[in-house]
Amino acid sequence: MGDTTADGRAVAELLRARIARQGPITFAAFMDAALYGEGGFYGRRAVGERGDFVTAPHVSPVFGILLAAQVEEFWRLLDEPDPFSIVEAGAGDGTLARQVMDALPDAVRRRSTYLAVDRSPTARAALRAEGLRAAASVSELPAARHGCLLANELLDNLPFHRLRMTDDGPAELYVRVDGDGFELVQGPLSEPGLADLVPAELSVGLEWPARPAATRFLDEAIRAIARGYVWLADYALSGAEEAPSVHGYRAHRLETDVLSEPGSRDITAGVDFASLARHASGRGLAVWGPVSQRDALLALGFRDLDRRAQQRQVEAVAARRGIDALRIYSNRARANLLLARGGLGDFSVMCVGIGVEREPASTSSTL
Ligand SMILES: C[S@@+](CC[C@H](N)C(=O)[O-])C[C@H]1O[C@@H](n2cnc3c(N)ncnc32)[C@H](O)[C@@H]1O
Repeated sequence: MGDTTADGRAVAELLRARIARQGPITFAAFMDAALYGEGGFYGRRAVGERGDFVTAPHVSPVFGILLAAQVEEFWRLLDEPDPFSIVEAGAGDGTLARQVMDALPDAVRRRSTYLAVDRSPTARAALRAEGLRAAASVSELPAARHGCLLANELLDNLPFHRLRMTDDGPAELYVRVDGDGFELVQGPLSEPGLADLVPAELSVGLEWPARPAATRFLDEAIRAIARGYVWLADYALSGAEEAPSVHGYRAHRLETDVLSEPGSRDITAGVDFASLARHASGRGLAVWGPVSQRDALLALGFRDLDRRAQQRQVEAVAARRGIDALRIYSNRARANLLLARGGLGDFSVMCVGIGVEREPASTSSTL
């Protein structure tokens, strides 16, 4: 990416020209351009220690190892299909794909096809460089596969409309030009269906991110999996009584100004899992969760993995392999961040069953 896009100037100019032509645009349109348009944020390698923020698989490979245990269980619960299709949506640079494939037992890996899907051409190039099959959209995939679709931290990056409750019901916030920058301005709803995505009990003055794109994504995922599971992990919106935080990340710092320098930072807000669960149940599908990511990873065997690592650490100390012991200790500390309360452990995991009623381990509450 060149200098003009790195600081958001090129994207800002495109947006200014568009707003001059058509008037104020929805926040969803602004976010779509800032993240996925020409010069947008996801045109670069955004996730990872050398990017702008890290996700669970970048914190510790234990995330992918445990997700592989979940994928193996999906395979068994589906009566061991051959071929077995694993689709990962929003696969980014392929870190999670590599972790899952490396950890799958041979019996499952031999029968599996792993298809990585990402909207960003930069991500797809990285995925192909990793030797993965990559597609641009779940909607392009042929239906009738038996398997699972995984999506980690994809939903929060789907563009959302910003709605605000008023005495007369929900209104929408649009983006208009303000001098050299942008500002929000209130107007009527841009789509009638948006009102259905706002909790009726939302207090006057509070905002709500409405994401019809998430419902559409879930429908596409369900269509792509003829029989199997859709497994979603992300951070959830807090309740209707609290103002949700629209924010972004740049260089590992959280920023609340998401209008300046569009394209230079991520834009995100929590996911409304309750409305996704209602949508899937309304289609007659089994829905499990959401449960906390902490509970999901514990149910998938986090403690066993950690005990084994601790044993290796003790052996390394006994054998005076100090550096090995230190490395194992620090890897265990990183893995524990996946369970952290107030952090990744508070993320949510939800699972939808398509043509299958058997509950998977990660969302079972048998702890
Ligand atoms: C926050 S990153 C997460 C990457 C990876 N899942 C991880 O956990 O590190 C979100 C990814 O979703 C991709 N994405 C956004 N919208 C998408 C869509 N509709 N379909 C597929 N990928 C999408 C983005 O390009 C980006 O690579």
